[in-house]
Amino acid sequence: MKKEPLLHVDGVHWHYEDTAAPALTEINLSLYPGEVVGIVGPAAAGKTTLLLTLSGLIPANYAGHFRGERKTAAQHGIVFQDPETQFIGLTVEEELAFSLENVGYTDEQIEHRIGEVLELVSLQGFAERSPFELSGGEKQRVAIASALSHAPEVLLLDEPTSELDPVGAREVFSLLRRLKQENEMTIVVSSHATEELAAFCDRMILLAEGQIVLDLPVRDFFSRIDVLDEHGIFVPEVIRLYQMLCKEGVLPKAGRLPLDVEELSRLYQAAHLVREGSL
Ligand SMILES: Nc1ncnc2c1ncn2[C@@H]1O[C@H](COP(=O)(O)OP(=O)(O)OP(=O)(O)O)[C@@H](O)[C@H]1O
Ligand SMILES: [Mg+2]
Repeated sequence: MKKEPLLHVDGVHWHYEDTAAPALTEINLSLYPGEVVGIVGPAAAGKTTLLLTLSGLIPANYAGHFRGERKTAAQHGIVFQDPETQFIGLTVEEELAFSLENVGYTDEQIEHRIGEVLELVSLQGFAERSPFELSGGEKQRVAIASALSHAPEVLLLDEPTSELDPVGAREVFSLLRRLKQENEMTIVVSSHATEELAAFCDRMILLAEGQIVLDLPVRDFFSRIDVLDEHGIFVPEVIRLYQMLCKEGVLPKAGRLPLDVEELSRLYQAAHLVREGSL
């Protein structure tokens, strides 16, 4: 996966105007093609600010002091926590057309692209619906469709499921999983849903007080329970259970960290078979 980075920030420091402390300090980050990166951190850690910085909206659209460098040739789309606050169209079609009209597509091209992105997010047949009268998960999928309308290489999402019920959250993560698998999208997503992130991300970043505390491949990241606990990050139950089973000698300690129940049960079965002498 180590090709040229799609996006690179170097020594970034950002201080919002009229605030006591910088929101980001000394941020170094390279994002590689096809990577899926999760960002976690306590409230006010700087997750939203980091995503705005990756997108270039900081410093372009915000008042403050910026130091460092952001290099990218890649297009990106960005999705925020509450999609509704950004909707302006009376229909889903109109909503998606706004972002495409700005770049001078013809009506036919716009209609064609809208059909394509609605298919990408599995909302075929929703073109005439009001975006305000959809379920939370559907609204967020319209926001994702809008972010995807220009076929960006990088998709940035800031807590895309925090306002959704469990059904809506599952819808959004299964869409993201599909974009990863079928479209090889490069995705950066901040979220408190660590169980979903553990099962979905290749790499995880822990942000605290505007600094990167951990930036590791997903299994290494969730092995650092001490650091995650220290920062109040919810460690998925399956990982805690695994650690407990290792401690009790039920599972061998040197194994690969399981990221979901299926992986844990496979480890358990393997260890069980060894003990029974069937292997
Ligand atoms: N537009 C803004 N103007 C001034 N200060 C801001 C602005 N946005 C965020 N901040 C400050 O920057 C710091 C980081 O905020 P940020 O919203 O990036 O954190 P976060 O990790 O996304 O938090 P949360 O989990 O609550 O979403 C906080 O101290 C916050 O008060
Ligand atoms: Mg935030």
